[in-house]
Amino acid sequence: MGLVTGACLAEAGHEVICTDIDAERIAKLRAGQVPIYEHHLDQILVSAGNAGKISYTADAGEAIRFGEAIFICVGTPPRPDGSADLSAIDHVAQQIAAEARSSKLVIEKSTVPARTGIELQRALTAYSRGGNGFRVASNPEFLREGTAVEDFFHPDRVVVGVEDHAAAEQLHEIYRPILERKFSCPVHSGKCPDNKAEFLVTTISSAELIKHASNSFLALKISYANAVSDLCEKLGANVEEVTHAMGLDPRIGTQFLRAGLGFGGFCFPKDIQAFISLAATVGVDFEILKAAERVNRQRIDRFLEKISKALWVVKGKRVAILGLAFKANTDDIRFAPALEVMRRLLQEGAEVHACDPQALEKAMNQFPLAHFHEDPYQALQGAHAALICTEWEQYKKLDWEKAGKAMARKLIVDGRNLYSPATLRELGFEYVSFGRE
Ligand code: UGA
Repeated sequence: MGLVTGACLAEAGHEVICTDIDAERIAKLRAGQVPIYEHHLDQILVSAGNAGKISYTADAGEAIRFGEAIFICVGTPPRPDGSADLSAIDHVAQQIAAEARSSKLVIEKSTVPARTGIELQRALTAYSRGGNGFRVASNPEFLREGTAVEDFFHPDRVVVGVEDHAAAEQLHEIYRPILERKFSCPVHSGKCPDNKAEFLVTTISSAELIKHASNSFLALKISYANAVSDLCEKLGANVEEVTHAMGLDPRIGTQFLRAGLGFGGFCFPKDIQAFISLAATVGVDFEILKAAERVNRQRIDRFLEKISKALWVVKGKRVAILGLAFKANTDDIRFAPALEVMRRLLQEGAEVHACDPQALEKAMNQFPLAHFHEDPYQALQGAHAALICTEWEQYKKLDWEKAGKAMARKLIVDGRNLYSPATLRELGFEYVSFGRE
């Protein structure tokens, strides 16, 4: 999300330079290509570029010397034990210490365990031999993939973890155009919702914790809905009726209670693990999160059980997977439940035909034995089952009457509860979903 941050800050009027360890990525950006699929990003990169507000360099030193504030947006992937790998942050700290010629505010945007800021401050001081007076701040992002640009311009809160008042002031200045709506947001073309974001100043460790605690809570909420969904199946209740009514209580809220295949992506699965692992380092057994993680892992088993039960014999069956991305409106397949489903079906000897509006290219390289289609109707041709793995709008609107005629068997196993069971059954489908009869 570093590119989104850079682009949005440039669109808000700041002078921004972006750098990346991947020189090819920088070359693409310079040539006007957008290396990720993110709604509105192309549009704001063009407008910020035309205004001369954003530039790109493969030379980290040039980027480091460019401004007064440096946002670190590098990845913090999971290590085998679940803890966050902070080596990219350490690498950037070494580069900053070596290349900076003046004092800088160094801001962690990457999701990091609490106390990383303190370590970063120590590292910067040590690597620069006490020189240059670096100050560290934490400014966690709460952007969702697919709506990241909109989220950036319309945050619920901007959290800054700082050690001194000057850093808070500097960050407030950076976010002023967004907090005060000083410019026309490109997402809503002048008709922005008028929620006001709170600017929260905390300690660095609190800011770091806020990010992990927020993501883990959301993941917990999804797992809770999924556990309720399992119960609904056993008791003949309808999970959507239950979660909808629950969510109308404002203390609970309707969002993130969608039952199904569970959460994936590069945030929740790794953040929940990193939070459990951080807690363990200080002697806290975060049992409730371990349970949430376990429930989430079981979603794929449940889905495959439903498929096996419906198909009886999986080996040799042609199955269509609709949706590979970990959620709709992104091309991101990292930790996507669909991939694990595909891997296990291939292992069982099924003939897999997959489609996705954005993520095909990324998935193709990983699965040489699967077949890929841009057109969902082609993927469904001759299929013994349609498996819904991502909640894409295109799939919600699919013409099942047409698709049913092309399928070998009219069976849908819906991992995202996209359709009304009654409607699909009226069309003659066997329809299996989560937490609903
Ligand atoms: C998440 C958070 O929502 C952002 O606030 C945060 O900034 C971001 O991680 C991050 O740490 O960078 P994101 O990973 O883009 O954003 O995706 P979400 O929209 O949160 O969805 C995560 C997963 O949960 C998806 O696989 C989605 O299908 C699943 N999900 C979501 C459910 O299974 N049920 C729901 O009710 C909602």
